[in-house]
Amino acid sequence: MSTKTLAKPRGTRDMLPDEMESRREIEMRLRNCARTFGYREITTPAFEETELFTIRSGEGIIAEMYAFEDKGGRSLALRPELTAPALRLYVNEGRSLVKPIKWCYFGDCFRYERPQKGRYRQFWQFGAELIDADSAFADAEIIMLANELLTSAGVTFTLKIGHLACMRTLLSETPPALQVAVRQALDKRESDKAASLLSENGYEHLVQPLLALTQAKTLSEIFSIIGNIPEKERIVEICQILDTAGVTYELSPAIARGLDYYTGIVFEAFAEGLGAENQIMGGGAYRLAHLFGGKDTPSVGFAIGFDRVMVALSNKQVVAPKPQVSIIYLPETRDAAVHVAAMLRKRGICVELDLMGRSFSAQMKNAGKIADAAIIIGENEKSTGTVTAKNLKSGEQMQWSLSALPEHITEFMSER
Ligand code: HAM
Repeated sequence: MSTKTLAKPRGTRDMLPDEMESRREIEMRLRNCARTFGYREITTPAFEETELFTIRSGEGIIAEMYAFEDKGGRSLALRPELTAPALRLYVNEGRSLVKPIKWCYFGDCFRYERPQKGRYRQFWQFGAELIDADSAFADAEIIMLANELLTSAGVTFTLKIGHLACMRTLLSETPPALQVAVRQALDKRESDKAASLLSENGYEHLVQPLLALTQAKTLSEIFSIIGNIPEKERIVEICQILDTAGVTYELSPAIARGLDYYTGIVFEAFAEGLGAENQIMGGGAYRLAHLFGGKDTPSVGFAIGFDRVMVALSNKQVVAPKPQVSIIYLPETRDAAVHVAAMLRKRGICVELDLMGRSFSAQMKNAGKIADAAIIIGENEKSTGTVTAKNLKSGEQMQWSLSALPEHITEFMSER
């Protein structure tokens, strides 16, 4: 027999009950919020055909995925994100549904990355996809939803919005490989590197406009650098709708969002105090359906990095622990204890009963550690058909008939 203590795999986490209760609370807020915008939840498999993810991003993405061959020789991958699976589902089954499709999801994703604070190999995303609505209002609504979700979670964040057309226009005269390299550098917030790439390749005249664009904060500054591009009208309209909705955001025309599937508007949110991994949400407009065998369909969506939101909230108390009752009983009053526990649990009260044959006084001592109130069912209570309730915070004690117990107990526990 091995004496080695087994540990969890690198980049994964175990979660104890306190943490899980906080996570469930935030999950519930996110689901409720998405529902108020009319987004309904979907679930897709944890693993998919590897091709679903390589078809757009190329084979290179395999290095960042948990890709494997199953026993039937199929090439599969644990999902690194949920947009491609959602669009596959749309192509498979969603085409007959009422347009536009408004879906949200919450699920774990897997990426073979170097773990650090806020970056894990298994992490959770809460996301939304708005499929087959191509308008400024559609883009604005999805940004409003992302903003509202993060607000409802209680996290403090900065929302940044850009449009890929800005950089695309500025770099249009440069070769595609250089555009990729410049956008990659900007994605890593290395604007100096982006500038040197341009000057090294004979595009010195673009350095100043590039740096000005990365700094531009208003629509007029942006369009004075890149001119009146065809996308201007839509960008202006999106901003107008967001302003009307009272969304606070910064314009950030240099957002590149990786280089994968985005085509138009792009947006990201950053939380304070998270260090390097401070991006808590990212999204944008994209087209994927045609790659999965469907019609070319405009879509826009985002995903919130749920674990990063939880790290950002970790100094705040998310949920107060649920008040708890401990029933203290004797071997002769165990049946009564079982009945009282069932009666209180039916009313949603959290009840603990000794399962280890502890003595009356040991049960009482344990209750002091885990419960807010004790319900004592001793000989005296058994013979009179009553229970004694003791508020373990204030020491206050009451005696009620069994039938009066449910009526009084909640209020009694909250009196501290
Ligand atoms: P993404 O930017 O790759 O976009 O991921 C979205 C969010 O997931 C990030 O902003 C980050 O908060 C979180 N995240 C990413 N990797 C990790 C990790 N290793 N550990 C913890 N959190 C992580 C997408 O995945 C797109 N599917 C978003 C989207 C939806 N675009 C359109 N629709």
